[in-house]
Amino acid sequence: MKGKVLQLLRENSDDFLSGESISERLSCSRTMVWKYIESLRKEGYEITAVSNKGYRLKGETDDVSIHAIQSRLEEDSLFQRIIVESSVSSTQHVAHRLDAEGAKTGTVVVADEQTGGRGRLGRTWLSPPNTGIWMSLLLRPKVELRKAPQLTLVTAIAVVRGIEKVTGIEVDIKWPNDLLLNGKKIAGILTEMQADPDHVNSVIIGVGLNVNQISFPPVMKEIATSLLIETNERYPRAEIIAEILKEFEWLYETYLTKGFAFLKPLWEARATTIGKQIVARTARETLEGTALGIDDTGVLLLEDASGNIHHIYSADIDLAKI
Ligand code: BTN
Repeated sequence: MKGKVLQLLRENSDDFLSGESISERLSCSRTMVWKYIESLRKEGYEITAVSNKGYRLKGETDDVSIHAIQSRLEEDSLFQRIIVESSVSSTQHVAHRLDAEGAKTGTVVVADEQTGGRGRLGRTWLSPPNTGIWMSLLLRPKVELRKAPQLTLVTAIAVVRGIEKVTGIEVDIKWPNDLLLNGKKIAGILTEMQADPDHVNSVIIGVGLNVNQISFPPVMKEIATSLLIETNERYPRAEIIAEILKEFEWLYETYLTKGFAFLKPLWEARATTIGKQIVARTARETLEGTALGIDDTGVLLLEDASGNIHHIYSADIDLAKI
């Protein structure tokens, strides 16, 4: 019966559901409904109660602790320092501060909630508590400045593989930094760096992954989704974080020693847009054509209707409407 209460709350998570309506639908007393709600709360479900409105399921919890992540990594892992916060404005901000203080490469910042999560191009990134993976990796790679954006692509491969290892779900990559599930955005990557003209001092890679959200605000519903929404299952965030970090570690090592060209086939295997008609909005222009693929440096190649090939370094892309 408790499972049924939970199911009803999940199905109606967009709005409040009155105790009366739950008791009618499940043919049980309102006192029993209240007891089931209390019991679900004790298990960690976040259920809001408002008089005259009823109950609303806000989030399904799982614990993300340093121990839960670190215990899954090798002792000599690249990620020797893991910081887990319950609420920060942005894990990127925290990582930038640690960077300025001289923190070592392989420092990870994870937060349960971000109150000022940031996306690319100055967008905000919705990061409510108990739902997603919000983390930033601080790295000090010895790479040329022009190659540093490739780390976004390396991270995309790591996140896709980490998700699949834990959940079995195959997520698609949309160049350069989006991960999609059933055509909706499930994750985004934000790569920021501190550099001199010829030298990278640090790279901070932010990963936002929607795991256990049960709904999104109406304006985002058409474009964003979570693993839970698409599969109706909850997933353990700490386990996914650990798998992403493990995948990242060997990919990063390979990248530093052998270069991006060596990892390109792994990226291409999961890239949905390759071979399709796309629209690319760059800072200067909007281009339409066939996405041919990426070159060995990670630059997107687009062939327009006249057969001209454009090298795209940064853009928002969408499938063209045919
Ligand atoms: C995007 O798709 O625009 C990139 C989104 C990146 C979001 C993550 S969540 C963890 C880290 N902290 C932030 O404020 N942003 C990144």
